[in-house]
Amino acid sequence: MSLNAQTRWLTFQSQQEINQAALNRILAAADAAIAKYGSFLIVLAGGSTPKAVYQLLAKANADWANWHVYHNDDRCLPVDHAERNSKMARDAWLSHVPIPENQIHDIPAELGNVEGAKAYAQTLKGVRTFDLVILGLGEDGHTASLFPGQLVDNSADAVPVYNSPKPPADRITISQHRLNNTHEVMFLVTGAGKQEAVDQWRSGVAIPATLIQSPNGVDVYCFGVELK
Ligand code: 6PG
Repeated sequence: MSLNAQTRWLTFQSQQEINQAALNRILAAADAAIAKYGSFLIVLAGGSTPKAVYQLLAKANADWANWHVYHNDDRCLPVDHAERNSKMARDAWLSHVPIPENQIHDIPAELGNVEGAKAYAQTLKGVRTFDLVILGLGEDGHTASLFPGQLVDNSADAVPVYNSPKPPADRITISQHRLNNTHEVMFLVTGAGKQEAVDQWRSGVAIPATLIQSPNGVDVYCFGVELK
């Protein structure tokens, strides 16, 4: 099966509709994983797109005690910096629900990309297959902190990123290989700014987003882009 055959494109008619669908998908994945494994391992996207979904999660009822939260990437900035992906997720969602603190695994990006990546690789050691990886899509086709033209380093589960075209330059990302070790993948793609990347993806251009594949394929939730 080709990569594209496993990519399912879902379009929604409003921001509210896509947010609700993403929320339902996350809660359903959590219920299924907890029934099967006793735990739910979710990997969060950074950027601005998922914020509204995280705000809905803050008000949702779930078996929070069994949730384990990871991040697909973060930016090398102080812990409380407004641009940290971990801060966004905590402010919008995680600090409003009773997930045990030792089950929220922020990337220690404040340590710098080399030390922080080493520490996060250690955190990921022995962690089973993720249940759900959520990802965003950059206007240039990047996802997590896997950028066009940059070598994909699969030498470890978490790797340093240098010279990111999207600031800040120093970042840490979970590697392609480890992100793909998941039962499910959901991309959240909203806004006309993503049109070119979506067009490229759909016409078979190998943008970084296409590196991400799970055995169950990939679902791309879209609003505000046209599926040509
Ligand atoms: C980040 C990301 C990145 C993001 C996309 C989309 O740290 O910036 O994790 O991969 O998900 O760039 O970002 P927006 O949702 O802000 O468009």
